[in-house]
Amino acid sequence: MKPLDVIVVGGGIAGMAYAAALIDSARNRPLRIRVLSKAPVAGSSSHAAQGGVAAAMGANDSFELHAADTMMVGAGRNDPDMVELVVREGPSVIHWLERMGAVFDKDATGRLEMAREGGHSVARVVHHRDRTGGEIVRALRMHLRNAREVELIEGQHVLDLVVEDSPLGRACTGVRAIEYASGDLLECRSDLVILATGGAGQVYEHTTNPIEATGDGIAMALRAGVALRDMAFVQFHPTALYTGERGQTPLISEAVRGAGARLLRHDGRHLMSGLHPAGDLAPRNVVARAILTEMRSTGVPYALLDASPIGSTYFAQLFPAIERECRSHGLAPGHDLLPVMPAAHYLCGGIAIDDRGRTSLSGLMALGECAGSGLHGADRLASNSLLEALVLPQRTALASWAFAPKNAAPRLPGVVRSKLSRQKPATALRAQAAIRHAMSTHLGLLRNRDGMEAALRVVAHCERVIAPMWMRRRWSLELINLRDLSAVARAIIEGALNETTSIGTHHLEARQTVAA
Ligand code: SIN
Repeated sequence: MKPLDVIVVGGGIAGMAYAAALIDSARNRPLRIRVLSKAPVAGSSSHAAQGGVAAAMGANDSFELHAADTMMVGAGRNDPDMVELVVREGPSVIHWLERMGAVFDKDATGRLEMAREGGHSVARVVHHRDRTGGEIVRALRMHLRNAREVELIEGQHVLDLVVEDSPLGRACTGVRAIEYASGDLLECRSDLVILATGGAGQVYEHTTNPIEATGDGIAMALRAGVALRDMAFVQFHPTALYTGERGQTPLISEAVRGAGARLLRHDGRHLMSGLHPAGDLAPRNVVARAILTEMRSTGVPYALLDASPIGSTYFAQLFPAIERECRSHGLAPGHDLLPVMPAAHYLCGGIAIDDRGRTSLSGLMALGECAGSGLHGADRLASNSLLEALVLPQRTALASWAFAPKNAAPRLPGVVRSKLSRQKPATALRAQAAIRHAMSTHLGLLRNRDGMEAALRVVAHCERVIAPMWMRRRWSLELINLRDLSAVARAIIEGALNETTSIGTHHLEARQTVAA
C-alpha cells in the first residue's frame, strides 16, 4: 500500500498537533509526514504563548457560556457552527494533551486551575504558569520524537505551492522551498499540503509575534488563488510592554489583569472606568483602543499597568517568565507601574477553511492562525486560538485519509537551479519599513477610508519594486519576506475597505486624514 504522504508547513502547535493526530488516526496504514519549519520550532509564536487554552471545564462553566462569550467578543461575525464544534471539543483536547504528558496547573484538590482573561465571563483558561505554549510544544515534541513517520526539517523556507491541473481537476501537489544551508530551491511533492504557518504580525511596526510571522502561508495561498476570509480583523493585544523599540515586543499576558492588575491613566485614574462593564477584562479591541486614546491625548507612547493588587511575591509565582522579562527592562511588577501599549497580536481571519481544514484548493488544508475558520469572527476571545489549533487538527487528520487527491504527481524531490542571495538589499528593507509604517498608521486600531487607500498606494508601489527583483531570481530573505508582507498587507487593506461599518477590531473613525 502506498503511504499517505503529507507535507506540513510550519512547526508550531497546529502543525505538530496535526502530525500527532494523523499518526493516531493511521491504524497501521502507512504514512509519511514531513514538517518543514523555516525557524527552529522553539522560536514559534505557539512556543511563546503565555495565556493558555480556553476550555469549558470549570464547575460554573458550560459549552453554551463559552460559545456565547466567543460570539460576544467576535461581535456576532463568528460562524456559530464552528464555535459550537470547537468549544465542545475543549475538554477532550486537554485530556489528549495530558495523556501525552503536558502538565497544567492544578489546585490542592487536583482540579485544573482556571485563569481569567478578557471577554470570558468565568475563569476558563487552562494554563501552565505563563508558559503554556512552551509546555504544549514540549509535550507534542516528546510525543513525536520517536515517531518514525515524522521527519522534522528545520531551516527550509517554503516560498510557494506547486499547483497542477490533472484530469481530476486543479490541485496542490507540493511546495517549493529554499533550503537555508545550501541556498538551493527544492521542489517537494506530496499527496497533501497542510499550511500551519502562523500569523502575520510582522506587517506592523509593533507586534508580539516573532520575526518569522510574515504571513507567508496566507501569501502563498493567495498567489495560488485560494480563498481567504475575515482579513480585515487584526487583533491588537492591549498590553505589550513598551520598550521604545520597534519590532517584536514582550507580552504582558491578559491573565495578569485576570489576576487583579489594573490599567491606569497617567494621572493615576483607572483607565477602563466607565468604558465597559467588564472593565479591564473587556474584549481586547475595547481595551486596546482605550489605551491608544490615552496615548494620543497625553502624547505619552504608553499607558500604565498596576500589578500591585497581585503583589510582587505572588506575581513572581504566577508569572515567572513575565516577571523575568520585566526585570530585564529594569521593572519590578507589583512594585513599579508597567508601561504598556497595544501591539499587533493575532490575525482573526486567514485562509478560508471548513470544519475539516479544507481550503478552496484540492490537496491543500490549513490550520492555526494562518487559517480562517470563522471561529473568531471580528475579534478573538482570549486563549481560543490554542484551543482552535488543537481541535481542528484532529478533524483535519481524520479527513486527510479521504481527501488526499488521488492525482498527485510523482513524488521525486527536484532541485531548481536558483540560489538564495546572501546580500541584504537595502531596497527590500526600505520597502518593508514603508509597508509596516503604512499599516501601523492606517490599518491599526482606528481606521478611515483615506488612510486605508493611502496604505494601498504604498503597497502598490512596493509591488512594483518587487516584480523586477523577483524576475531576476536574486532572491534574498529580505525580498522573500517583502513579497509575502506586501501580499498580506494588501489582503488586510482590501478586507478592511470592504467593511463599511465599525465591528470588532475594525473600528472606523469619523475623521478623514492624511496621505501616507
Ligand atoms: C495572553 O496571554 O494575553 C495572550 C493569550 C492569547 O492571545 O490568547
